[in-house]
Formats: sequence, C-alpha cells, structure tokens
Amino acid sequence: MKVTVVGAGGNVGSTVALTLAQRDFAKEIIMVDIEKKEGDKTFYPSKGRALDQWEASPIHGFDTRLTGTVDYEDTAGSDVCVITAGVPRRPGMSRDDLLEINANIVSDVTKKLAAHSPDTILIVVSNPLDVMTYVAYEASGFDSNKVMGMAGILDTARYRAFLADELDISPKDIQALLLGGHGDTMVPLPRYTTVSGIPVTQMIDDNKLDAIVERTKKGGGEIVGLMGTSAWYAPGAAAAQMVESIMLDQNRIFPCCAWLTGEYGIDDLYVGVPVKLGHGGIKEIIEVDLNSEEQQLMDESATHVQSVLEDFKKLMSKESGG
Ligand code: NAI
Ligand code: 2OP
Repeated sequence: MKVTVVGAGGNVGSTVALTLAQRDFAKEIIMVDIEKKEGDKTFYPSKGRALDQWEASPIHGFDTRLTGTVDYEDTAGSDVCVITAGVPRRPGMSRDDLLEINANIVSDVTKKLAAHSPDTILIVVSNPLDVMTYVAYEASGFDSNKVMGMAGILDTARYRAFLADELDISPKDIQALLLGGHGDTMVPLPRYTTVSGIPVTQMIDDNKLDAIVERTKKGGGEIVGLMGTSAWYAPGAAAAQMVESIMLDQNRIFPCCAWLTGEYGIDDLYVGVPVKLGHGGIKEIIEVDLNSEEQQLMDESATHVQSVLEDFKKLMSKESGG
C-alpha cells in the first residue's frame, strides 16, 4: 500500500505522514514538496522531513518507508494521495483569503498526481477546503467518490475535546456529528452528540453547549491567534484517519467534504456531510433527519461555500481572459 502526501515539507503534510507511519500499515509514504531557494542555497523540505521521520522509525518501531521527493514519478501507483500543498492563513486572514493562490497550486498538483496514479483516491486538506476539493475534482476528472476533503473530522475533534474538558470526561467517549462547510458557518449538531450513548444535551446546560459550539466554529482561528499560523497536529491526524479507513476498508463513518447531488437539498456542491469511507473512497453519503433550524443552518453554510465557489469561477474566467 502506497500513500503520497503533497505539501509534506510543511506542517500538516508532515504530520499526516508521521501519523500514518506510526500506524505502520502502509508499505511506503512518498512525501512531495517543492524545492526552496535562499540565496545560492537550495533546500528540499520534504526530503529533510522524510529523512528525519525515517530516522525516528527505530524508536517508534515502524516499517513504513518514508521518502521525500520533488519528482512526481516517485508517486506513481499511489493508492491514496493527500493534498496539503498551499499557503496557510495568518492572523487577520480568513480561509477564503487563500482562494487564488491555493487554487492554482491544488489544480497543478492534482493534475500531476492524477497523471501518475490514475486510480488513486484524493483527499484534499488545503484551504478554503470545500472549494479546493472542487478544484481537485475538476482537475483530476475522477469520479466524485474518489475525491473528498478533510475538515469534519477535525472540527468534530475540536468540539469533542472542548466537551471533554467541560464535562471532565474522556474525549474517546464522545461521538459527534457536524455538517456544512469548513468555516465559521459549519454546523455542529448537539442533537446528534452523545456521551457513550447518552444525549449530550442531558449532561450540559444549554448555555455552556452553545458556547462550545461557537468556540468550535472559530477553533481554527483560535489556533491562528495563538501561533501566528494554522493548526497541524489535529488536522494531520484527521487526514491520516481518513487514509486509514480507506486503505484498510474500515467502513468508518466520518463527516467529510463530499460532492452532493441532491442530498440535504444541495446540488452540485462540495460540502461536509457524514460518509462511509472504505476501499474505493466514499461508499455512501448518509442523510440524517434535520429539524428546520438545523436545515436552515446547513442551507446558510452551503450558500457561503457556493459564494466562494462563484468567486473561484470568476477568478478562473478572468485568468483565462474570459
Ligand atoms: P505549510 O506552509 O506548513 O505547508 C504547506 C506546504 O505546501 C509548504 O511546505 C509548501 O512548500 C508546499 N507547497 C506550496 N506549493 C506547492 C506546490 N506547488 N507543490 C507542492 N508543495 C507545495 O502549511 P500547513 O500549515 O501545512 O497548511 C497547509 C494547507 O492546509 C493550508 O492551505 C491550510 O490552510 C490548510 N489546512 C486545512 C485544514 C483543514 O481542516 N482542511 C486544517 C489545517 C490547515
Ligand atoms: C483549521 O481549521 C486552518 O482550516 C484550518 O485549523
């Protein structure tokens, strides 16, 4: 089993690679990035990170071979490719501010990956996530079940971590669902949140739950405010969990960014919904019942993603002189 991670000289990509290597089920992980010139020196961040991580293999005790490269030939025959290439946001920026620069990067990278691994499955991480997943879908020409984005696992992980703190319980016992785009309009669903089967609404005051939902929506910005750049440990672990479910055919159900054709009343848009992940990618999109308030929040989130998609389409038509 072979996994490629692009942007792996950076924070999220290298965390995806190390998390997967530590799980030790893949034969090899190819870590791709660009070369970087500083004065008369050339640096190869993905080669450096791959070597550093491989040197940790005797300590962690894994066999998965990590290889850094700038050459897409080395990615040939990958079962799954994770795209983290691009620019992260800085303080004061929204994810949507990254649209133009990351769209060009994601499109270029996707074409190269698809040319060398025509049967691969693509997991997009670069932001703005929902539209970048669309960019990869368009650029690859793959079926939509083979192109998806990572956001919901991260966002529910944050929500679960905050709940675990508040309730003073293990985060492992919290199950949660979240819908919508990866942005401040995301829709955590308290009605579908349980603690070992107990509805969370029976364990916490409404006010405290509302505050946790709000904190979750702004969870990415909270980290940017603390570090000056965006998160990588939780995002990297989240993307690795998707790779694992696909490669080991685990059929796990996660909120992921998927192409909707009518589900939740949304057509022709990539947005976050629960899916079943296994061999072949997305095996099923799961539709849960929403009350009118939840549906309205989902509609608002989809409208926001649609507006960023329209901005992207305008940009592309300007670039092509249309
Ligand atoms: P980073 O700057 O640490 O790493 C990005 C890497 O992409 C860099 O090493 C850079 O050299 C590389 N890169 C740029 N252009 C490339 C190209 N054409 N080909 C190959 N590699 C290229 O940034 P970080 O923190 O790893 O974030 C990466 C992306 O992931 C950002 O867009 C960020 O907003 C997004 N992100 C998304 C999350 C999500 O939940 N979907 C969570 C966290 C980050
Ligand atoms: C996050 O939510 C930046 O999308 C990234 O941390």
